Amino acid sequence: MNIIHVSAECYPVAKAGGLADVVGALPKYQNALGHKASVIMPFYYNKFRDAHTFKDIFTGYARLADITYTFNVIIPQDVDFGYEIYLIDIPGLFDRDSIYSYDDDIERFITFQIAALNWLNSWEAPVDIVHCHDQHTGFVPFMMSKVWDYRKFEHVPTVFTIHNGEYQGQFGFEKLHYLPPFHSYYNGLVEWNGEMNPLASAIKCAWKVTTVSPSYMNEISFSMKGLEGLLQLEKDKCLGILNGIDVDVWNPETDPLLDVHYGIRNISGGKKALKDKLCEQFNLNPSKPLFVFIGRLVKEKGADILPDVVYQTMINFPGEQNILVLGSGEQVIEGALLHMEQLFKGNFCSYIGYNEKLSHEIYGGADFLLMPSRVEPCGLNQLYALRYGTIPIVRRTGGLQDTVIDMGDGGFGFCHNECTTHDVLHSVIRAKAFYSDKKNVRAIRKQIMKIDHSWTKAADEYVELYKSI
Ligand code: ADP
Ligand code: GLC
Repeated sequence: MNIIHVSAECYPVAKAGGLADVVGALPKYQNALGHKASVIMPFYYNKFRDAHTFKDIFTGYARLADITYTFNVIIPQDVDFGYEIYLIDIPGLFDRDSIYSYDDDIERFITFQIAALNWLNSWEAPVDIVHCHDQHTGFVPFMMSKVWDYRKFEHVPTVFTIHNGEYQGQFGFEKLHYLPPFHSYYNGLVEWNGEMNPLASAIKCAWKVTTVSPSYMNEISFSMKGLEGLLQLEKDKCLGILNGIDVDVWNPETDPLLDVHYGIRNISGGKKALKDKLCEQFNLNPSKPLFVFIGRLVKEKGADILPDVVYQTMINFPGEQNILVLGSGEQVIEGALLHMEQLFKGNFCSYIGYNEKLSHEIYGGADFLLMPSRVEPCGLNQLYALRYGTIPIVRRTGGLQDTVIDMGDGGFGFCHNECTTHDVLHSVIRAKAFYSDKKNVRAIRKQIMKIDHSWTKAADEYVELYKSI
């Protein structure tokens, strides 16, 4: 099958979160199954651009209302992704270093979607499946089926994956004319609740809708910022497929971002060396259990309760443990964490920012990973933690519920029900008691490093889904 993934992110070209990891790995595993999967994404003027060489393969035009943008399709020449990647370079809209958060994001991503389809329109090779990811590509299924320019794609099946239903990308109807012409009879297919809503449009128009874990699929049909009714209506075409991880990139035996490598046979030595290094860097005591958090500092991740978790832990159990946070996001959370750092020097530290290398070092050197998420469609951090022998402490929600089994139920992690300081503290206390039994810790680390979360199974599930349409 000729499978085209369309996305705003793809690791290592541009990453804001787990979406990039998924789109960076899934096509590789689909190719390994004998298909031809490729990725279309915007070309950002970021570090990846500075570090590589590229070749232009196509020049086209994308019209957004009364502005016509010239775009080039370019491909990297000196990197092998394991699949083809087509970067759409649209000067004036994407010649910037960040992926999102510009005032003209609506204009940027609609133009990207139009450019991607204009380019596909020029292909002679048939396309079997177009698989779109998240709201930035949400109008593609609609345009493929209803926009006159793209009649050619009317019968090409589309799959849309919801990585995060919290972000729907809605905006006012005065921008309806941004989309290329179609019969106004179909206006209802791009709207929800009186606004244009790319996520809703994708749920209505894609042939199949997936999300990244079965539990999240179930949750969003009850609660997804106003779209739950739509999901219930469309439930027959919806399915939860649990994400995998790229076990070539995330492998503690070979990870180029780690200074010390380890596998199941030398877990304790490897993790200890990485922990010592981390503790030295952040002025923490390596003989104490190390709890970490990595992620966006937003409410969705439960990051707003972290300062209080730190405070309560350090006040009630002084000097017994260390906590390290890597993340960036809401200023008020960043500020509160920096304040905690002043109060609990030597036991708590935070690194505010995005740092890929440090994240790998932390998965390697930590003892426990905290994920108190309010919403977690899948979550990749807990899967990386497992692979690196770090024990997850998670709230039972979405993909966390599908991937972490509590020690009390014969499992390998610590689970709690609520995103509250109280519940997290309870898990921290359980984890510390567990940590004091070194033999048990070794056994569980061994067990979790062996769990297979590679993409092989999920890549096949997607292929079966494609075949069904
Ligand atoms: P989400 O996509 O909702 O942010 P995921 O758990 O799916 O959550 O994926 C997050 C990804 O981003 C992981 O690869 C994680 O290691 C990475 N990550 C998040 N915050 C940071 C950070 N501050 N520095 C480095 N990597 C980060
Ligand atoms: C989103 C979700 C996260 C998921 C990721 C990849 O960003 O918040 O839970 O793991 O997408 O699918």
